[in-house]
Amino acid sequence: MSFSGIYFFEEYSKNTIIHTRQFVFENKGPIKEVLWKAPCCRGDLPFGRMRVRYAVLSDVHGNLEAFQAALKDVEDEGIESIVYLGDIVGYGANPKECLDLLRGKTQAIVAGNHDWGVTGKTDVRSFNAVARAAIEWTISQLDSNDKDFLDHLPLTDDTPSFTYTHSTPIDPQNWNYILGENEALENIKALPSKSLCFVGHSHIPIAFELHGSGCLSKRTSLVKTVVNRERRFIINVGSVGQPRDGDPRASYGIFDEDRSLFFLRRVEYDVVSAQRKILLAGLPPVLADRIGKGW
Ligand SMILES: [Fe+2]
Repeated sequence: MSFSGIYFFEEYSKNTIIHTRQFVFENKGPIKEVLWKAPCCRGDLPFGRMRVRYAVLSDVHGNLEAFQAALKDVEDEGIESIVYLGDIVGYGANPKECLDLLRGKTQAIVAGNHDWGVTGKTDVRSFNAVARAAIEWTISQLDSNDKDFLDHLPLTDDTPSFTYTHSTPIDPQNWNYILGENEALENIKALPSKSLCFVGHSHIPIAFELHGSGCLSKRTSLVKTVVNRERRFIINVGSVGQPRDGDPRASYGIFDEDRSLFFLRRVEYDVVSAQRKILLAGLPPVLADRIGKGW
């Protein structure tokens, strides 16, 4: 059997197109061979389901070197659907560059507390002294368009496969943390059944799973995690620009919808360059120290 064609697929997050893919093929062999050679995409597929994978990134915090390295890894993996969980600014020396780069890569973005700290929607007095100093410096680096963009970011959003927010599904504007089982259980029970929610904020990768029995389990080793879609999950993808789990490499996640698998990625980057820029900018030196050690 031979066939050829041009196909367009659009992937949506609410009413926003995350990406559009076009592929052209001509094939004289079995249909199956074409299906799995096609790029990852989504939509009304002509011959069956295609492979859909999402890169889920969070907490870049103005660290351009880490962000570029993570995006290179995403590109090398052949993934074009990027979802961002907030805190593009704060702490690092390149907030504007990171914001510009993010806007060029995806429109699937939610707000973090530092993003709203810059706009005044979250009171800067609620931050510790170091974070507050970084926010005040960041304000001086952004123009009105940047601040307007951050000001209009939603607190939560979703794709056809999962929801995402910066802090917690319950009252995300309060910027609470999900660090242990108590907070996780409270939040995961509030999710609809069979749902998956990605979060950031703590900068520590961790996954919580609610079993049918009502028991909660947690995993801290997320190199490859099976996501049972009959259950509820909350997964923290860690931080690209300021990891706090003792591993200074940039952290982000890949969700493979068709195989129901989550992969945590760790990516080396030029930490020394990012540290040097923090010091040259006059930001608190502790911010340079911590990205070298991952705390
Ligand atoms: Fe953060």
